[in-house]
Amino acid sequence: MSGSVERFDERARREASRYGRTVVRRGELLRHPVYTRVLHWSVAIFFVLSLLSGFALYSPWLFRWLAPLFGGGTMARFLHPWFGLAFDLAFLFQFVNWLAPMAWTKADRRWLRRIKEYTTNEEKVEAEDVGFFNGGQKLYFWAIVVSGVLFLVTGLLLWFDDAAPRWLVALSYVVHDIAALVMLGGFVIHVYEGTAAAPGTFRSMTDGTVSEDWAWTHHPAWYRDVTGRDPREDYERARRRLAGRERAAVAWEREQDERERAAAPEEPPEL
Ligand code: HEM
Repeated sequence: MSGSVERFDERARREASRYGRTVVRRGELLRHPVYTRVLHWSVAIFFVLSLLSGFALYSPWLFRWLAPLFGGGTMARFLHPWFGLAFDLAFLFQFVNWLAPMAWTKADRRWLRRIKEYTTNEEKVEAEDVGFFNGGQKLYFWAIVVSGVLFLVTGLLLWFDDAAPRWLVALSYVVHDIAALVMLGGFVIHVYEGTAAAPGTFRSMTDGTVSEDWAWTHHPAWYRDVTGRDPREDYERARRRLAGRERAAVAWEREQDERERAAAPEEPPEL
């Protein structure tokens, strides 16, 4: 990354943090600062608006359901390219913001080889070399980069179709639609991964923080970088603490049962 990009990004982060706060409590780590969160939700809003207005134009059946959301077909057709441009612009800023942590590394190649274990949740904690983003997250990011460029180029050709040869316009329809379907698939997986699949992830994009347990479970190398502690040791310690607490709770319940039994009046003898 060039020096000027770094300076721009640092300034934008500082500016954004003046308008919003991130409170990091004990046992938590800062994951996404205000600037990143504002960009993420701007990208998400314009993506969903582009998708819905685009699907309204895609098929007559979807048109019936979706066009009224935008005030009719003519309005949906007018708004769609503008939503698309806003999506691309918001993502351009996010691209600059995330370029460094999204660089592909050997650890990501190893992560891809273990993808089956990841999807079947065979391991409780991720491998020690998984950093701020894992290989799957990086693939999603780069898929958006490629789709974003394809959307822009083919979208402009469709918008100003008088200025392009007919075969190129026809090809643009196909590429535009394929990119949209790929993005839709990625979006569904992404929402699942960011919410139900890994509890504690969603708050990183609302409050900006995650718990330390979440960090050593999903991103051990990042946990080591920011805390200077060994993720595996901390995980084992937390596991022992939890097991100790469970044992203490069981012992306490047993003691209560015995006390209640001792305090209960004796059964009257059977006659
Ligand atoms: C509307 C529902 C969405 C939810 C609930 C959601 C949730 C999240 C969360 C929680 C993270 C942080 C993950 C982490 O720190 O490990 C994240 C990251 C990210 N989001 Fe979203 N997001 C949504 C929509 C979108 C959309 C529409 C896009 C782009 C088209 C997008 C692109 C990204 C990217 C590139 C990342 C970083 C890589 C990754 O975590 O996969 N998100 N999102």
